[in-house]
Amino acid sequence: MTPSQISLVRSSFELVAPIALQAAQLFYAHLFQADPSLRSLFRGDIEQQGERLMVMIGRAVQMLDRPQMLVPALRALGARHDGYGVQASHYATVGAALLKTLSLGLGAAFTPEVAQAWTAFYGLVSRCMLEGVEQRLAA
Ligand code: HEM
Repeated sequence: MTPSQISLVRSSFELVAPIALQAAQLFYAHLFQADPSLRSLFRGDIEQQGERLMVMIGRAVQMLDRPQMLVPALRALGARHDGYGVQASHYATVGAALLKTLSLGLGAAFTPEVAQAWTAFYGLVSRCMLEGVEQRLAA
């Protein structure tokens, strides 16, 4: 990600932060509409899960300029997701639901540049998470 993409992701995430819980609910609604079979992977309370998701995205956003800390944390998160029954193909569905949620949550602030910056962010996060799965399989 370029420095300007990092700052776009940070400033737009700050705009979503006050409505994080609604954003998370909207995200799961989009996700389960896109693929209803994913619903059964979530065993815990979905509201609490939404909170965890937003906290984790917020942490990743903060750590974008500290890849030496971010990459291992995302690999570990990815390895845990393998244990939740998440498959590599699910990442694209989740990415699309995330982008759709951001576009609704940000409205006019969701410019093409912001969309591109979030696409780059999600690409980075999902690549690192999937690396964590490969490492787990190789171990
Ligand atoms: C940006 C990428 C993602 C982030 C930041 C993220 C974040 C999280 C976090 C923080 C947790 C809490 C448990 C833990 O820390 O291990 C979690 C659990 C979970 N995530 Fe994700 N996740 C991502 C992608 C995905 C994808 C692609 C799926 C596929 C459907 C998924 C499905 C799940 C499931 C099923 C659980 C367990 C929930 C439960 O036990 O009820 N996540 N996720």
